[in-house]
Amino acid sequence: MTTILAISGSLRDASHNHALLRHAAELAPDDIEITFFDELGGLPHYDPDIDGDDPPEAATALREALSRADALLVSTPEYNGSIPGALKDAIDWGSRPFGASALSGKPAAVIGATTGGYGAVWAQQDARKALGIAGARVIEDGVALGRAHEAFDDTGRLRSQEHAQGLVAVVERLAQAAQPVAAGS
Ligand SMILES: Cc1cc2nc3c(=O)[nH]c(=O)nc-3n(C[C@H](O)[C@H](O)[C@H](O)COP(=O)(O)O)c2cc1C
Repeated sequence: MTTILAISGSLRDASHNHALLRHAAELAPDDIEITFFDELGGLPHYDPDIDGDDPPEAATALREALSRADALLVSTPEYNGSIPGALKDAIDWGSRPFGASALSGKPAAVIGATTGGYGAVWAQQDARKALGIAGARVIEDGVALGRAHEAFDDTGRLRSQEHAQGLVAVVERLAQAAQPVAAGS
């Protein structure tokens, strides 16, 4: 079983990015389990002065969830051409302690949804960049879901087969990236 931690970069209850991740969990093959980090709203801004031996509870929860998971799947909205601040804080908390962080070496993928036409492509690029600098092993595969308010049916499933297939492909590629490399290969 490969476990993937899903983090939505939105704090909104009715978030399209939450919906995209929920659908990814539903579509994932039986040998891939997707769990959710749902304490993003409780994370303080990253502040080195409150990090150290006794970090905030939500930061510890994030680090433990990242450490338990084989891989990370982020779904980001786009705010003013980039990622929401709350998501950046999560990446910053996950990137410390430097050299021994929960993100170090972690396979990661980024997808995104917006109500506009472009599906958070700039935010996805920025999330990949920040995760890579934080030490994650970021795969390039993504899903850009534009017009997200029209993209799901009443049961929360994507109407477009193309997007659904793209979502499964990202999840499978990410799980593959999380497999240990066989000795000698
Ligand atoms: C402060 C703010 C800035 C935004 N800036 C952009 C933007 O630059 N590009 C874009 O495509 N959508 C932008 N949007 C629209 C969001 O991407 C859209 O509302 C999206 O559905 C939010 O994700 P969620 O449904 O997961 O909460 C912005 C929304 C907000 C609230």
